[in-house]
Amino acid sequence: MLSIVQHHPLRHLNTFGMTVYAPYFSELEREEDLNELDPVTAGNKEILLLGGGSNILFTSDPDYWVIHNKIKGIKLVGQDEDHVWIEAGAGEVWHDFVQHCVQQGYGGIENLSLIPGTVGAAPIQNIGAYGAEIKDVLDRVRFWNISAKTFKELDNRSCGFGYRDSVFKRQLKGKVIITSVRFRLYKKPVFNTSYGTVQQELDVMGINQPTLQSVSEAIIRIRRSKLPDPLILGNAGSFFKNPEVSNAFFHALKASHPDMPGYVIGGGKTKLPAAWLIEQCGWKGYRKNDYGVHAQQALVLVNYAQANGMDIARLSDAITTSVYEKFGIALEKEVWII
Ligand code: EPU
Repeated sequence: MLSIVQHHPLRHLNTFGMTVYAPYFSELEREEDLNELDPVTAGNKEILLLGGGSNILFTSDPDYWVIHNKIKGIKLVGQDEDHVWIEAGAGEVWHDFVQHCVQQGYGGIENLSLIPGTVGAAPIQNIGAYGAEIKDVLDRVRFWNISAKTFKELDNRSCGFGYRDSVFKRQLKGKVIITSVRFRLYKKPVFNTSYGTVQQELDVMGINQPTLQSVSEAIIRIRRSKLPDPLILGNAGSFFKNPEVSNAFFHALKASHPDMPGYVIGGGKTKLPAAWLIEQCGWKGYRKNDYGVHAQQALVLVNYAQANGMDIARLSDAITTSVYEKFGIALEKEVWII
């Protein structure tokens, strides 16, 4: 049964820790309950799905029927000599799922350890870190189409994955509820330790032969050293995407900013770290009242205690403006502002 609560607090359901209320709120625990999902029963409000609330900034009470996806369950659905196919309920906590796979000896998502959020939210923005993206191991996504009242599955190719992007952020936004995700993982993992300081961290840990556990542990240590724990300091990870510019534009910028880092990504494009651009504009460690820019990672905006979502949204606009004025680059937000 899908019970509806009115004026429900969302403070613990968004990692920025914003004190806002949903006019209508329900917990979704079973696929079967989706049949009862009729907006008429909740003031005809549009539906807003919340998983871990780790990529959202509430600037006021959301005028939606907020559904907290808590569909659980992890099952092995197939295997061959080299792979396993494993399916997880959308409401599983992403990091718990990663740890489950690491313990079972299934490789492919260990570099995505400690990313906040849920399994069901992961494909929406094609989560990625330390040289891995969910699109590399995702097999298919199962979802409920709200208006058609039917289940559908999309295979990897049909998900339209890009850098922090998918069809779920575009054509299907607000129209579907992801209920489970199937992954194809590796029984004989090939480790990717070449990104950033992963290998260095393994060296510090005294690891010569990496294992799933040790790579996962190295990633956890790196993330903890740079990224604030949302339970202690409200945040939603990277607030902006790393911008992609033409190689020619990058070279022109490099002439006036010789230290500017950039990574050639093919197709005549270079990806620039937004954190560097923001830091150059003097924002790193900025704080006003209860909001600011994290002192260890300029891409992360933080709520120190009682910040208001509008303050953080305005701060993000001020950052965007100054980066544009200094470099001519328009930053794109990764976080969804409501
Ligand atoms: N840098 C700075 N100042 C800073 C931080 C970083 O100049 O304060 C520069 C450095 O040159 C550094 C480069 O930025 O080498 C890259 O920094 P980092 O490795 O920390 O990664 P990022 O580009 O800032 C991206 C993802 C993160 C992911 C890390 C690791 C995006 C928008 N963010 O951040 O994802 O964890 O790489 O792979 O692509 C997220 O999406 O929420 C997220 C945390």
